[in-house]
Amino acid sequence: MTKDVARRIADLRKQIEHHNHLYYGLDAPEITDAEYDQLFRELQDLEAEHPDLITADSPSQRVGGKPLERFAPVRHAVPMLSIRTETDTTEGGAVAFDARVRRELALGPDAPPVEYAAELKFDGLAINLRYEHGILAQAATRGDGSVGEDVTQNVRTVGQIPLRLNGVNAAVLEVRGEIYMKHADFERLNERQRAAGDKTFVNPRNAAAGSIRQLDPAIAARRPLSFFAYGLGAVQGWKIPETHSAVLDAFAAMGLPVCADRAVVRGAEGLIKFHHGIAAKRDTLAFDIDGVVYKVNDLAVQLRLGFVTREPRWAVAHKYPAQEQLTVVRDIDIQVGRTGKLTPVAKLEPVFVGGVTVTNATLHNEDEVRRKDVRIGDTVIVRRAGDVIPEVVGVMLERRPTKVSGPFDLYQQLNGECPECHSAIAREEGEADWRCTAGLYCPAQRKEAIKHFAARRAMDIEGLGDKLVDQLVEATLVEHVDDLYKLTAEQLAQLERMGPKSAENLVDALGQSKATTLPRFLYALGIPEVGEATAAALALHFGSLEALMQAAEDYVAALAEQDDPTASARARRLKAQRLQQVTDVGPEVAARIAAFFTEPHNRAVVGKLIDAGIRWPAICRAPRCRSRVTPMYSPVRSIA
Ligand code: IVH
Repeated sequence: MTKDVARRIADLRKQIEHHNHLYYGLDAPEITDAEYDQLFRELQDLEAEHPDLITADSPSQRVGGKPLERFAPVRHAVPMLSIRTETDTTEGGAVAFDARVRRELALGPDAPPVEYAAELKFDGLAINLRYEHGILAQAATRGDGSVGEDVTQNVRTVGQIPLRLNGVNAAVLEVRGEIYMKHADFERLNERQRAAGDKTFVNPRNAAAGSIRQLDPAIAARRPLSFFAYGLGAVQGWKIPETHSAVLDAFAAMGLPVCADRAVVRGAEGLIKFHHGIAAKRDTLAFDIDGVVYKVNDLAVQLRLGFVTREPRWAVAHKYPAQEQLTVVRDIDIQVGRTGKLTPVAKLEPVFVGGVTVTNATLHNEDEVRRKDVRIGDTVIVRRAGDVIPEVVGVMLERRPTKVSGPFDLYQQLNGECPECHSAIAREEGEADWRCTAGLYCPAQRKEAIKHFAARRAMDIEGLGDKLVDQLVEATLVEHVDDLYKLTAEQLAQLERMGPKSAENLVDALGQSKATTLPRFLYALGIPEVGEATAAALALHFGSLEALMQAAEDYVAALAEQDDPTASARARRLKAQRLQQVTDVGPEVAARIAAFFTEPHNRAVVGKLIDAGIRWPAICRAPRCRSRVTPMYSPVRSIA
């Protein structure tokens, strides 16, 4: 009887670990959550009846520990070293490291290049996993490198970390690696925290560190953590491979997660290539990194190189420009966007982040400012990743000066008026944004609409930059976009910082911009909710501006006759649905498009633009023909 139970328990554990691996390790589950829960519950029930059969590597042991008073200290069998950081973020950083290694090894200029293992520098927290006879016995944080904290209970809840290693029976095998949180998991966690009225985390690293150092393992279990293995600690009874890369291969074979973005390269040249390659894909990674790590691949050579103080001579971290920095908020401004949206913007002490100097960072909307509780005078974390607009991710409350502004109140700050045209501002029920109600009467909205029209991906009017648009609107030379095409070189030459030559050039550029494509033109009009992809889809679906405008009219006419049961009204309603047949166009976007093209002023502007000579090649709508659709606007869906 007990034998049968023991067999069933073993079988359940095996199945559960298999599904854990598919789910956490490969992101490719083969059973539903409910089926998984059923297996898990059966295991828990059997173990409850037979507590003598519970083992440390049972998946049931991942959850269910009691909250701790504090973490017990753990002395590391082998100290956890830190890593020297190469502050030179250019190629020079890799060259300097390779030169140092060669010097230490007394390699002459003719000696062959050194082989390195190159990998990512994960931005989480270091952890030491101690496996005894293949079973996870203890997990400890790095601490000061000599003594860390016992966080075994919490680490057991990390689904990606195997409780038992495949094919390992060594007395001791310590695996070192990084606990981190993926971006998507971080966003979801913060959403959950927000919904529950709990505090949110400023970045994935803080979320990961906070979760591992959570005294209640039930809470830690609900935090979505991930893990990558990157090195060895103490080892007894396991034959260590000859190279670092082979150690990582062995880890992967044991069922430990090892990051696939790694390479074995030769010499400084190989390091540089790796550094560039990762930089190019940094923004597409599912998690944060703050650089790459180079390690001498040959473990015997590592031993020869040894270390200085707590840093090995055989490894270096080669950083990228930081994507987050601390700075101080000087002021909170409110900017008026193209559609009248009022956006709070933090004016910052200039700070170098993500490769550029940042002085402004978006705060998105009023709720965001309040949620983050950003005040003038606060020290904040500013983030700029890739080409994204810099944003304030959080406040360092512990650095808040005693004298700060009160809580943010957009309406009060603006006295209920648009900062540009002093019209009333409004915030609709269920909307996050306050808006200026004046529409194109508001010069700020007009300016933004013109800047959008001229932008590279819209009408691409070379030389018509933001400053110039501001000047043109302020000098009342341009009120609406069609006025651009009436500008003369003489008028332009009279503007500040404009010579006759640049005036001529701009007139030329305006002339050239007239030859465009329908998708670009539609995008340039700045119809709310119509971005590049939607503009391209609309152009492709309707084939001509006339057909699109007709569909917009039909849409509005059908709305007016919504409850009319006559045949002609029904026919019109059917026609009206054409707008929504376009990829990505739902009722909301359809309504915006219809409203735009039925508004008399907009129709007049469109008419005047056409009269000014704006034209585009006809779009061929024959099946599968993609001619005359520029690659930038390649169809979202094939033409069928
Ligand atoms: S190796 C001897 N490899 O960086 C070097 N560390 O200062 C020991 N880290 O907090 C570490 N990614 O957690 C190594 N691929 C990687 C790493 C990495 C991130 C962290 C590590 C530690 C710090 C080292």
